[in-house]
Amino acid sequence: MIPRHWAHTLPEDWADLRRAVRTRDAGDPALIAQWEATVAEVAGTPHAAAVSSGRRGMALIFQHLGIGPEDEVIVPAYTLADLIPLIEALGARAVPADIDLDTFNLLPAAVAQRITAKTRAILALHAFGAPCAIDRILEIAQPARIPVIEDCAHALGATLGDRKVGAFGRAAFFSFEPTKPVNTFGGGMVTSSDAALIAAVREKMASGDASLNAVQKKANAVRMEQWMFQTRIIFPFLLALTIPGMRELAAAAYRRVQPPPRPTGRYLPVQAAIGLRKIATLQDRIQTRNRHAHHLSALLKPDIRPQRVLEGAMSTYYFFVVLLPCPAAPVRRRLLLRGIDAAVGHEIADDCAAIIGAADCPNAAHVFRHAVALPMYEGLSEAELARIAKVLNAAVG
Ligand SMILES: Cc1ncc(COP(=O)(O)O)c(C=O)c1O
Repeated sequence: MIPRHWAHTLPEDWADLRRAVRTRDAGDPALIAQWEATVAEVAGTPHAAAVSSGRRGMALIFQHLGIGPEDEVIVPAYTLADLIPLIEALGARAVPADIDLDTFNLLPAAVAQRITAKTRAILALHAFGAPCAIDRILEIAQPARIPVIEDCAHALGATLGDRKVGAFGRAAFFSFEPTKPVNTFGGGMVTSSDAALIAAVREKMASGDASLNAVQKKANAVRMEQWMFQTRIIFPFLLALTIPGMRELAAAAYRRVQPPPRPTGRYLPVQAAIGLRKIATLQDRIQTRNRHAHHLSALLKPDIRPQRVLEGAMSTYYFFVVLLPCPAAPVRRRLLLRGIDAAVGHEIADDCAAIIGAADCPNAAHVFRHAVALPMYEGLSEAELARIAKVLNAAVG
């Protein structure tokens, strides 16, 4: 079985976590400052503040910007649905803008169409690690003085031209969940050149509880998932995901095993230590994923269209997503029966326009139904890549 992802873990991760739990000592707080400075450098911004999750980072940025009742926030029509209630919790309205059918990222023209007198922010996602047309979006936002917030949950280390994502907008947030480019078993980071914004985020985070248990639970879930793949015990569970009626039960079980990011809580020094160790190999791991993506793309039939990466941009390939000429769900089932685990529908991203009740984002609806995220991680071999391409080409044919 070729899994869809394989979280990047090191033996030292487990040793660090075991020691922290045994001694009930989450580590030296100075590590957090060191980790913040390191991520700020990778993101090309002067300041960064560690947070308990990417979504918490987004909520704190919007709070600092004073977003509240009557305000509108433009969001990609195709992104993580969990972000919508966080915007609504502030009293604001999430307004979806459609995506491009090739890049799966925001269409600048759709953003322009959605701007009203009530627009207070634009959330620009770099989907699956591929930089969006952020410079075009900034050109649209700047005359109206609307802050652009970059959702870099998938994109630590991605670049556009000679600039790093996270450094374009007013602020950005990153995620360190287990399958993200840097896995610190949860947590996130807010980056910005606005020192006051970073100070406000840091102040809010200081009051969170420091729960080692939550971090350890996430690490255990990663270990359990990897063991389930190695022993193939995961197969019936993955098969259930392909059967209507059982899909929801299987997804609910998955959510129970994989604890969701903590809404409150503090980012812990032991997580910073894990991040500092992994960042050293980030660029090499991104290069490897790019090589895999190019290799796989070259082997696919022309009517299977890999996500287009903008010219001059470098994606992290957090996910390798392809658009099929047919609905994705039956193809995923065929892949699974041939030993290849892939993601479809909500497992990749959500049709947020449909969730919000807007029926005018046809590209998001199309991608939601026709996209498959193929296996992508550093450890894939050439033979596995060839096998994925061969099975997918046959499954689509
Ligand atoms: C597009 C997007 N934005 C934001 C987030 C939030 O990050 P976190 O899970 O750390 O809260 C995610 C998480 O997967 C995401 O996919």
